[in-house]
Amino acid sequence: MKVLLKTFGCQQNDHDSRVAESLLGKAGYQLTDHVNRADVIIFNTCSVRQHAEERVFGQLTQLKPVKKKKPGLLIGVMGCMVENYREKFFADFPHVDFLIGTRSVRELPRAIERAGAERKKVMELAKSGFGYELYEYAKLDGEIHAYLPVMTGCDKVCSFCVVPYVRGREISRAPEEILDEIRRLADGGIKHVTLIGQNVNSYGNRPGTGMPFARLLREAAGIDGIEKIGFTTSHPQDAGEELFLAIRDHAKISRRFHLPLQSGSDKILKKMRRGHTLAEYCDKINRLRELVPDISITTDMIVGFPEETGEDYELSRQAMKEIQFDGAFIFKYSPRSHTIAAKWKDDVSSAEKDRRVNELLRLQRGITKSRNERLIGQTCRVMIEGMSKKSGQEVSARTWQEKKVVFRGEASEMGSIVTVRLKELSSETFRAERV
Ligand code: SAH
Ligand code: F3S
Repeated sequence: MKVLLKTFGCQQNDHDSRVAESLLGKAGYQLTDHVNRADVIIFNTCSVRQHAEERVFGQLTQLKPVKKKKPGLLIGVMGCMVENYREKFFADFPHVDFLIGTRSVRELPRAIERAGAERKKVMELAKSGFGYELYEYAKLDGEIHAYLPVMTGCDKVCSFCVVPYVRGREISRAPEEILDEIRRLADGGIKHVTLIGQNVNSYGNRPGTGMPFARLLREAAGIDGIEKIGFTTSHPQDAGEELFLAIRDHAKISRRFHLPLQSGSDKILKKMRRGHTLAEYCDKINRLRELVPDISITTDMIVGFPEETGEDYELSRQAMKEIQFDGAFIFKYSPRSHTIAAKWKDDVSSAEKDRRVNELLRLQRGITKSRNERLIGQTCRVMIEGMSKKSGQEVSARTWQEKKVVFRGEASEMGSIVTVRLKELSSETFRAERV
């Protein structure tokens, strides 16, 4: 049986899909990229913004005629949209055969089997837990990077965000378990690990779960064979001195720090329930830049949140100009069911949201360019990640700021660390030469 698994959304979903593929492989399934060759089609879905859900609804609708032609085809949905809509999926899309919630990934092979053998709708929705063990992810030969979930869920209540609803309450994995898993990955040839969670800084916050995140990071950085260790995502309220000092002290820790700001207006930040002001955010990143001068800071911004006036928006624009992020994801607000903000009037017009998002995108493109241009001429360490897609004679690598670099090299060099001089910039990729 051949399975097509398509992933939408964040790194957590990416990783869940990798675990799903690994479990499917063990159960005897093969993976395919072709809709026409697939016996099973699964969408691993995201609910964080309306646009993400619309794409899935659209693609599910397109599968209707496919299933009509091939009635034996099984169609399944997993991930956040399953938690968000549950049985409603079967009502709206009767050609869907099975649903797997965010905490039930392990049930996937059995759900496919049951949906096929018993010809009935199957839904697996666990209320808590991770849905799989760390070791259930099997790395592929030649891979050098792995995501590793250290916690799941989120106990914050940002008023726009559906994640606490679809991913549940925060749970942290035991530190020994995580560190053992990193050692196992390193033994298998993994050189770069990204620790993931909705809010990694609150790792271990609940009594009984071990150590603060900064300590976990230090211990992980001490593991032989691991050359680079990143983490995402951080929340400004919980990120602080201890974490910044860990980054400063360990050259292995990635120099890209993603810290969502969301808005430059204190009024909006308060309505978003982010728990900090713009000034507090700036104090944190100024301190981080002081301790780790080569840090690259990226962010998320939302435009068109309820009651965001022209002045509030202007404060966001000013904040981005002043802070000079290395990169930013900019989103148009969309109301999400089960959130606090969904009860408020979505009062910024779609045209105005478009205008704001485009203006901020343009602004950030310029800032990213000028920050990158300043790096030209510098030498830096990079890790080779594979061959460049554009040229058979060049490899693609990343700096510790996670900036993309290409230069001459060979496939056999994957995973090695070399020093290069950055020569020129084309869009956001540097061309470089070895030194
Ligand atoms: N802590 C999470 C955040 C998840 S959501 C993480 O691991 O990344 C990712 C980003 O989507 C948020 O930072 C926010 O900028 C944006 N976002 C979330 N809900 C949104 C909504 N309702 N409308 C628009 N953007 C939203
Ligand atoms: Fe969402 Fe805020 Fe948690 S953005 S994931 S509720 S920190």
